[in-house]
Amino acid sequence: MADLSTSYMGFKLKNPFIASSSGLTDSVEKAYLLEQNGAAAVVVKSLFEEQIMMDVDSLRMNNTFNTYSEAEDYIAFYTRKHALNSYIELIDGMKQKLSIPVIASINCSSADSWTDFAGDIQAAGADALELNMFIMPSDVKMKGDEIEKIYIDVARRVSQLLSIPVAMKIHHYFSGMANFAVELSQTGIKALVLFNRFYQPDVDLTTLKVTSGSILSLPDENAEVRRWLAILSGRVVCDLAASTGVHDWQTAVKDILLGANAVQVASAMYKTGPEVLNAWIEETTKWMESRGFQSLSEITGRLRQADSIKPLAYERAQFMRYFSDAR
Ligand SMILES: Cc1cc2nc3c(=O)[nH]c(=O)nc-3n(C[C@H](O)[C@H](O)[C@H](O)COP(=O)(O)O)c2cc1C
Repeated sequence: MADLSTSYMGFKLKNPFIASSSGLTDSVEKAYLLEQNGAAAVVVKSLFEEQIMMDVDSLRMNNTFNTYSEAEDYIAFYTRKHALNSYIELIDGMKQKLSIPVIASINCSSADSWTDFAGDIQAAGADALELNMFIMPSDVKMKGDEIEKIYIDVARRVSQLLSIPVAMKIHHYFSGMANFAVELSQTGIKALVLFNRFYQPDVDLTTLKVTSGSILSLPDENAEVRRWLAILSGRVVCDLAASTGVHDWQTAVKDILLGANAVQVASAMYKTGPEVLNAWIEETTKWMESRGFQSLSEITGRLRQADSIKPLAYERAQFMRYFSDAR
């Protein structure tokens, strides 16, 4: 029987399939169901600081504070504390029920909050922490290197503070992506998750309003993940997890061949149910055996660019072939 176990963030996972942070991982019962269906680890739904602060603002707008600023401060503090406590209870509940690693996830909007929240989550007993970090480069006054510096600072500060392993989930809107990812991997984080996926803006031609596109990913979206896994594997000094567009076991295997130590899944489970994971584990095992591979480590990163004999020629050949074949 082929061995599907993989090493990710210092954990030995029984297989490479991790349940991504989403609404499917926001309760103990749902996480347990994922474990029963084969998930090797679970990333808990993120705790969003911005959401907590919006709740505080809505209390403010409803004049719940009766304009007394001391009361306002107290309730703001309490709301934040309450949200954090509920999250800590969730982690604690998962830790008691599950035997797979429980990876907490946070998104903070202010620099100091990353370290405050991270410390509390470690104390709650999470096995690891994923930093769900996104600064959209949409501010015309903000330069690329200023944005990158914030990511690097947060990654360094949080990984220095915590004793549990830290991963960072990023998007791919960076101008010097390869250089930035290598620098990020040197901050002490144990994994990079490629990539986060955002609401896709769309336009309704009837109402002439901007709407949200599909909340779930499409299989084609994995192409960008494959590109960056191939480029970064063997160059970053941390593990890599694929995330976005994994809708079948074949895509997962491709991601692993290109350098993913683990594969995170959300949309496919929303569409088909958590049972897809067990089916993928079975199919991946069969494929490995049919090809004579005994362990996942034999194929992890096998096709990455760093090991290609002529990586530059390889890139150029791809480019030329594309245009010479185009009709
Ligand atoms: C309904 C929904 C909720 C999500 N919530 C979070 C979240 O709280 N934190 C996070 O890091 N990613 C969140 N994601 C993103 C997923 O973790 C994942 O990165 C993304 O959906 C791409 O993977 P997929 O193609 O397997 O869906 C969410 C995705 C969906 C569909």
